[in-house]
Amino acid sequence: MTTPFKVTIIDHEWEDTNIEEEIVASYTTSEQPIELSILQSHDKSKIVNAAKNSDAIIIMYANIDKEILKEAPNLKIVSRYGIGINMVDVDAATEANTMVANVNDYCVDEVSDHALASILSAARRLIPYNYMTRKGQWDFKQVAIPLRSSKASVGLLGYGKIPRRLAEKLNVIGYQVYAYDPFVDGDTMKRDKVVKATVEEIMRNCDFVSVHVPLIEDTYHLVGVEELNMMKRNAYIINTARGPIIDEVALIEALKENKIAGAFLDVTEKEPLPSDHILRTLDQVVLTPHAAWYSEDAFKEIRQKAIMNVIEVAQGKLPTYHINKNVLVK
Ligand SMILES: NC(=O)c1ccc[n+]([C@@H]2O[C@H](COP(=O)([O-])OP(=O)(O)OC[C@H]3O[C@@H](n4cnc5c(N)ncnc54)[C@H](O)[C@@H]3O)[C@@H](O)[C@H]2O)c1
Repeated sequence: MTTPFKVTIIDHEWEDTNIEEEIVASYTTSEQPIELSILQSHDKSKIVNAAKNSDAIIIMYANIDKEILKEAPNLKIVSRYGIGINMVDVDAATEANTMVANVNDYCVDEVSDHALASILSAARRLIPYNYMTRKGQWDFKQVAIPLRSSKASVGLLGYGKIPRRLAEKLNVIGYQVYAYDPFVDGDTMKRDKVVKATVEEIMRNCDFVSVHVPLIEDTYHLVGVEELNMMKRNAYIINTARGPIIDEVALIEALKENKIAGAFLDVTEKEPLPSDHILRTLDQVVLTPHAAWYSEDAFKEIRQKAIMNVIEVAQGKLPTYHINKNVLVK
């Protein structure tokens, strides 16, 4: 009898694992049976034990450190539900000849839509009109004059998958789009009808600044006091990337002093945002609970793609979302 390829889901945040079970059942064959177990624990000794006895593990938040990887010489792949892989010691995995994979494109439409919805809602003053009308007033002049899309500009900080999709949508609507990304050349942007710009040019000139850089050492507080001071008083900042890219203390100051018109924040420096946090009290701030990624389709896709990474390895292939590409099949 063929030895089954053993997959363990270490932790997840779904109500059940039906999607994963169905996919495993549809790919299991007599030549290559695949067995799925669920641990649902962050207890290190249990994780070590599961990793030791698995060919593949799937994680949501569980830390997979050097010790665990060392104890699991047969582990072929760690697949993550999501983009960030900061909870996995990738260098140690590479040393242990264990592949690491993630799912980095399950919510490009959703996050770009969320940023677009923020921009359009700010441009059309939906939030203040709503507050005002509910209070019994009926006077469109009470609120700052809305913007015409073909006369307004959007600056994208970062030009990866999400802002590229956003730029497509913005172009159709008529916005002039600028982007800052030191790793993408001007010709590529030009083909997308986007103008390559510096952070300063974007902060000084754009009506909307949408943050999309990854959170790394170089981008920590990329938007600080200096950058906020450059912004136009009627400009908005939108953050669907990661909270610490904006210096929150500086942002609160800029908002309180009306140096900028408002902020749409899906992410904050501390999540969940503390219930007494000052950001919750400012009318010109629109908060969402790190929800930009969320839709029924994204929810399914993240799970399908995380399990497919391990199925591919069971089939002797490389996973689609392979991170440490120098590690090949064990
Ligand atoms: N709010 C949510 O629910 C949610 C969901 C998914 C992703 N995100 C965030 O959105 C961010 C963007 O996602 P993506 O799919 O477009 O990323 P991506 O990996 O496709 O692109 C990242 C881009 O950042 C650029 N970059 C790297 N270092 C940079 C630097 N120092 N300065 C400026 N640019 C730099 C890269 O050149 C690349 O073009 C992710 O990093 C993630 O934090 C949020």
